[in-house]
Amino acid sequence: MKPQTNQKQTTFSDVAALEERYQLATYKKMPIVAERGQGVWIYTSDGEKYLDLYGGHAVAGTGHSHPHVAAAIQIQAEKLLFYSNLVYSRARAEAAEKLVSVAPAELTKAFFCNSGTEANENAMRMARMATGRQNVITFSGGFHGRTADSISATFLGKYREIGKPNVPGHIEAEFGDIDSARALADENVAAIMLEPIQSMAGVRMASADYYQALRELCDERGIVLIYDEVQTGVGRTGDWFFAGSEAGSQVVPDIITLAKALGSGIPVGACLVTEKISASIKENDLGTTFGGGMIAMAAVTATLEAIEEDGLLVNVKTTEAYLRQRLTEVPAVAAVRGRGFLLGIEFRTPAAPIHKALLDRKIITGTSSEPKVLRLLPPLCLSNNQVDLFVEALLAITAKP
Ligand SMILES: Cc1ncc(COP(=O)(O)O)c(C=O)c1O
Repeated sequence: MKPQTNQKQTTFSDVAALEERYQLATYKKMPIVAERGQGVWIYTSDGEKYLDLYGGHAVAGTGHSHPHVAAAIQIQAEKLLFYSNLVYSRARAEAAEKLVSVAPAELTKAFFCNSGTEANENAMRMARMATGRQNVITFSGGFHGRTADSISATFLGKYREIGKPNVPGHIEAEFGDIDSARALADENVAAIMLEPIQSMAGVRMASADYYQALRELCDERGIVLIYDEVQTGVGRTGDWFFAGSEAGSQVVPDIITLAKALGSGIPVGACLVTEKISASIKENDLGTTFGGGMIAMAAVTATLEAIEEDGLLVNVKTTEAYLRQRLTEVPAVAAVRGRGFLLGIEFRTPAAPIHKALLDRKIITGTSSEPKVLRLLPPLCLSNNQVDLFVEALLAITAKP
């Protein structure tokens, strides 16, 4: 039996109409039917080619359909699609070993789940178990996901409102202001959780010594420090993780959470934890059917291997430098924020028309909750030539008439 694809729906309007007819309209979509991808390119059903500087929501770190990842998934699929954590698995053992091997030395164990929000829920749960306390401090502008506990930890725009009734015990501190966190960090606080670079808030970073100060605050008061690295992890900043990096004063939290690029598109999330946290977790404290499934694990190992073999961490740093330098030629750009390939370009005027004009020129970028900030989350293999295409398009779009 051959897999069925409905060959009747080939044009943009056919596919869009079918999807709109049968899928809940929860996302504002681009007018594109994505059919095929390779590296930084997305090919549409109409035979068009788009430069993807958004990476499918920061997921396509290794580039679209990286051959090494695709092959690993296929090989595993032919052996065993799935068995749960009730059995041992070579694929799971190797993925956990590989992930821990690229993490800061203090983070020695992995817990696998399916998404970013789930990783954050489990991280907060572990912090509560490890401390015997309930409350969690998170930050204005932070986004942590859409399930009950994570959305309650999200102090960005409308999200907490959507998640009502919120889980109790979530406290908002001012991002980047250590006195704000210090004033709230009492004996009921189990965890301080942050996106070390706030992405959806418009790519906001704190000073390097802020991360150090948060680490010291947590050590002093017995609080678990959690980095939500769902966006910043797996090479996006040009380091494997923000944790342990120079930009964050080499600070290592007690838990980091991952998802997005970790499986190159196969849904997978993870928490990486210290020995101390792992010692407080017993059998049955955490779990999920699909966490650690073989296909996801094969994708994780192959993703990390591809990042290494293709030299993508170095590529992020050198290409970021080139992009920043080229952006100085664009008078409409007021500032460039972030690190590596998590960049926020602040314009002097609203970003939405620029986002739209770029899309008209077949370049996909992202917006943010900051009206003047355009976000770039491209595959880690972006090259200088592709940067040139983007900058030339920006110059043309923003040139004064
Ligand atoms: C920083 C951060 N944390 C958590 C999440 C939630 O991840 P997921 O959509 O996989 O649940 C996201 C998603 O955009 C995110 O950007």
